[in-house]
Amino acid sequence: MTNELKIPTHIAIIMDGNGRWAKSKGLKRTAGHEEGAKVVRSITKYCNNIGVKFLTLYAFSTENWKRPKLEVEFLMKLLDKYLKNELEVYLKNNVRFKAIGDLSRFSKKLQETIKTTEEKTSKSTGLTQVLALNYGSKDEIIRAIKKLNEKALDVTEENLESCLDTAGIPDVDIMIRTSGEVRLSNYLLWQNAYAEMFFTQTYWPDFTKHELDDIISDFNSRERRFGAI
Ligand code: IPE
Ligand code: IPE
Ligand code: MG
Repeated sequence: MTNELKIPTHIAIIMDGNGRWAKSKGLKRTAGHEEGAKVVRSITKYCNNIGVKFLTLYAFSTENWKRPKLEVEFLMKLLDKYLKNELEVYLKNNVRFKAIGDLSRFSKKLQETIKTTEEKTSKSTGLTQVLALNYGSKDEIIRAIKKLNEKALDVTEENLESCLDTAGIPDVDIMIRTSGEVRLSNYLLWQNAYAEMFFTQTYWPDFTKHELDDIISDFNSRERRFGAI
């Protein structure tokens, strides 16, 4: 990464293709999720090193409960294990961890792990790694509207944003989806209003910092007009 490039403040990624990656290698889908978790670590570290402030990663959607029970259980265990292992790494690298999504559907144990990781990393001043967990954008917006009502706030963009799970986090600059699918799958619909979109064929477990460098270079060549001329 050369120095002259403007580094985006907020990168969001739909980490897709773990299952197909595994299948292409004759492995079980779960092996793809395990490999994917390693890439979460390396991409987080890289983004922190180059000065990205927020990295929001789609790890489990409100729709993913439709998957076979065994796969869902595996993902829950992997998440718990990942967060516990990662705590030391977050602290060493000055990374803050934050979860978005409706966490109430998770087991008490997992909710506890998430909360502890958030609390213990809350003083970090480098990158914030935001994991979207049981996250659905429509669900988030509905919950935000309910909060607006409870607080009897006026319906304004600012007030609604202050009730979203992403309150305090700026809108997305770069939105990436891996694995060749070209859709948002209920991800950050509000926050992606003016994001620059990137779709790559690469399955998430094969995604590298070099590919991210190419995306950031491309981002630098795009003119973001935000409606002006
Ligand atoms: C993304 O990979 C990870 C999660 C949704 C948890 P997938 O599991 O969707 O992989 P594909 O799309 O089936 O290949
Ligand atoms: C989106 O991927 C959710 C995550 C990456 C966590 P999916 O694989 O679940 O999305 P669809 O079903 O292909 O739209
Ligand atoms: Mg998928």
